Amino acid sequence: MLPAKVNIVEVGARDGLQNENAVTLADKVRLIDQLSLSGLKHIEAGSFVSPKWVPQMADSEQVFQQIKQQQGVIYSALTPNLAGLERAIESGVKQIAIFGSASESFSQKNINCSIAQSLTRFEPVIELAQQHNIPVRGYLSCTMVCPYEGEISATQTTFIANTLFDMGCYEISLGDTVGKGTPNRVEALLSQLLQQLPNDAIAVHFHDTYGQALANIYQALLMGINTIDSAVAGLGGCPYAKGASGNVATEDVLYLCENLGIETGVDLDAINRAGWQICQSLDKQPASKVALALGDPNSL
Ligand code: HMG
Ligand code: MG
Repeated sequence: MLPAKVNIVEVGARDGLQNENAVTLADKVRLIDQLSLSGLKHIEAGSFVSPKWVPQMADSEQVFQQIKQQQGVIYSALTPNLAGLERAIESGVKQIAIFGSASESFSQKNINCSIAQSLTRFEPVIELAQQHNIPVRGYLSCTMVCPYEGEISATQTTFIANTLFDMGCYEISLGDTVGKGTPNRVEALLSQLLQQLPNDAIAVHFHDTYGQALANIYQALLMGINTIDSAVAGLGGCPYAKGASGNVATEDVLYLCENLGIETGVDLDAINRAGWQICQSLDKQPASKVALALGDPNSL
């Protein structure tokens, strides 16, 4: 049965812009401020990773300083280690996310350590966050397919997702990092995982490289998942996942949910406007089919 309501986690300002070189601090702040007025309740606004690894996110301190935070909206950030968490705390961040991988090769490429080392590294991060009453979200990449290893078993992903949950993550966001998943794989993964974790502890984070994200989300919705990560204008990609393109577009998810009778609380027109505007700064078209169908409201 489909859920009556979904939570959208807007990741465009992080997952999207971590992949863009031509974006200014002012563009980021304007995008987040626009998203803040759309009804979204969770916006991932930055990433306190090594600036040597991802220079595009090096200004996350300034982003958090300059955005106008609206009441009732969570502004979260990625923190791969204690150094990242300390920077986030200094910036007054109220919610963080750690990010691991279900595939060994991707773990090495993305965070320069094995899965086991990453879990050890996350322990003090979760502990310090808990001391500061900062909820921790756990991302898991390559939950179905890895760009280096191919198919990842549902058993492997379930085991690591469960471990992150037991370590104190309130929610595990399942990444289809390279967008190669299909509904049958989503079904196989969620069937196993839902035997161990409640549906409200699971989110889906699907990239749309192969055009499967909406079909995969529909499958997840049918199985009771009610938190969806998406990126305005379909921005996104991971610099350490060869061939990964953008996240599923928020506009497309909103259109799907609205027409399925699922409440999102988010204003599609406001997202569409913000999407066209950031794309104008990036000198590209939105990757969202719905945005293209609706057209650019800023040019009317
Ligand atoms: P490392 O090189 O092994 O770390 O990287 P290190 O501890 O040896 O540090 C190297 C240098 O970075 C040192 O500086 C540190 O001080 C500095 P140096 O002494 O050389 O001058 N450093 C930092 N500086 C600022 N903030 C920090 C920080 N940490 C170290 N937090 C590390 C390990 C994890 C740091 C690195 O691999 C890294 O930052 N990786 C992040 C990669 C990334 O951001 N990928 C994209 C996000 S994940 C994603 O997109 C997937 C997701 O969307 C889900 C999905 O789609 O699947 C979430
Ligand atoms: Mg991602």
